[in-house]
Amino acid sequence: MFVQRIITKDYDEMSRRAADFVADKLRQNPELRLGLPTGNTPRGMYEQLVERYARGELDFSRVHTFNLDEYWGLEPDHPAAFARYIQNHFLRHVNVPSGQAHWPAGKGDAAENARTYEARIGAEGLDIIILGIGVNGHIGFNEPGAAFDARTGFVQLAERTRQDAFHPRSGFATREDVPIHGITMGIGTILEAKSILLLASGASKAEAIQRALEGPVTEEVPASALQRHGDVTVIVDEAAAARLADK
Ligand code: F6R
Repeated sequence: MFVQRIITKDYDEMSRRAADFVADKLRQNPELRLGLPTGNTPRGMYEQLVERYARGELDFSRVHTFNLDEYWGLEPDHPAAFARYIQNHFLRHVNVPSGQAHWPAGKGDAAENARTYEARIGAEGLDIIILGIGVNGHIGFNEPGAAFDARTGFVQLAERTRQDAFHPRSGFATREDVPIHGITMGIGTILEAKSILLLASGASKAEAIQRALEGPVTEEVPASALQRHGDVTVIVDEAAAARLADK
């Protein structure tokens, strides 16, 4: 495993360093195939990328984006849908052509949607996947117990994930509205990306980060699968790094 660890003072610095990482990769390869997370963690990184694009520093015209996951049962324009999140926080503000922005469909025939999505990712795979991490160590919607060779598929969300998904900015009106299922790139799909960027901020993520990077490699901690990858960059703030033995 090659892991580069960058520990930042706070969330803003984490976001800037994450945007630097993407900007560097984009300059090296304007045709980047980029896997993207949603959630609270990457909001600041998207803001940074959008600002840099507005200043004329970045060109996304040849980039393909691939969302990591989606809730099952939501229309793509539902306020909590990840398809809508990525439009609002990123795509609407930059020049990724609409035919080059991809996400797994969260309605219809799950097996068919998963096959279609894997086919879009294709044999070439992704150049970079950016990941957040759940407090239970999940990546995408790969919850504890998920197989490390899993491909994109229909999954059940852990109860903890459903609880954390309901917050003031979530887009869900009530706790019960959080779907029970999702569709996610599998850990096998994620591990095929050439580079992985893992982001985390805040004390609530400290245990998950420690277990992911320094604990045993086990399906009980989905993010520990990253220890099997050859090119992982971890950008975490001091609070999320607090439990790492090796800082
Ligand atoms: C979202 C995703 C999830 C989140 C994780 C952390 O697309 O795949 O794995 O990255 O749940 O969420 P936040 O960043 O909201 O703490």
